[in-house]
Amino acid sequence: MNDARTDGAAGPLEIRIDSKTYVSAEGQAVEVIRDLTLRLDAFSVGALIGPSGCGKTTILHIAAGLDPNFIGHLRIPGQGRLGVVFQEPRLLPWRTVADNIRLVLPPEQSFDQLDDLIDTLGLGAHLTHYPGELSLGLARRVAIARAFAVQPDFLLLDEPFVSLDVAVAARLRDELTMLTQRRQVTTLLVTHDLEDAIQLADRLFFLSMRPANIIAEMALPPPRGARDKATIDEIAEQVKSQVPGYASGAART
Ligand SMILES: Nc1ncnc2c1ncn2[C@@H]1O[C@H](COP(=O)(O)OP(=O)(O)O)[C@@H](O)[C@H]1O
Ligand SMILES: [Mg+2]
Repeated sequence: MNDARTDGAAGPLEIRIDSKTYVSAEGQAVEVIRDLTLRLDAFSVGALIGPSGCGKTTILHIAAGLDPNFIGHLRIPGQGRLGVVFQEPRLLPWRTVADNIRLVLPPEQSFDQLDDLIDTLGLGAHLTHYPGELSLGLARRVAIARAFAVQPDFLLLDEPFVSLDVAVAARLRDELTMLTQRRQVTTLLVTHDLEDAIQLADRLFFLSMRPANIIAEMALPPPRGARDKATIDEIAEQVKSQVPGYASGAART
């Protein structure tokens, strides 16, 4: 069906999905992805943008190695240290914030080494709290801290800013920009927000409706993380004029 391999630290991410099919509750096969090819340079950030239900999360699960049921090929960058931030934070409710993060640490790493990460994400005052006491923005930050704690060489983020209020999302975007710049990590992010993608990514991938494939790709001018509002607006205008269907909302969630 498919084969997967990891590559050296400087290898690109390569995903080829010839076909991905789900079987519906009625027993019908529904093809969600067809003929999709994605290549992302090592240590860069790619953003996948596409309409709701087109298969973004499915692609992320395949990239994470969580779904082997597809026809295609996967080449993972780095040494296989994977960090994933799912759309729902997926924290253990009976463990404190600190313990949720501590659980993923490799034996040779101590919690004290994470001070910088905890600081950047503003989690210092919340380490003894339980997930039920956290806002969604904070819970998302804990999930991000957990993903970075393993020092990933490959990072997957599924809609990290969805359902957050504007100010919280803006802060989290800045924090993520900082984290992905400081570390050598190849990152694939799914977001429905074009401005988020432009702020964070080096390369944009636009998905079609189902069965999804990539209808357009755009390399953004460096440096990532230093794009001001005027630059972001200018790139967004280019997208709207160049990407088929984007201006009418067809490529948005
Ligand atoms: N486990 C599953 N079984 C059957 N259909 C699924 C399953 N997961 C997702 N789907 C369907 O596949 C399509 C793509 O889903 P998903 O990847 O979650 O889209 P997105 O993340 O872009 O919103 C949707 O139509 C969804 O209903
Ligand atoms: Mg999704």
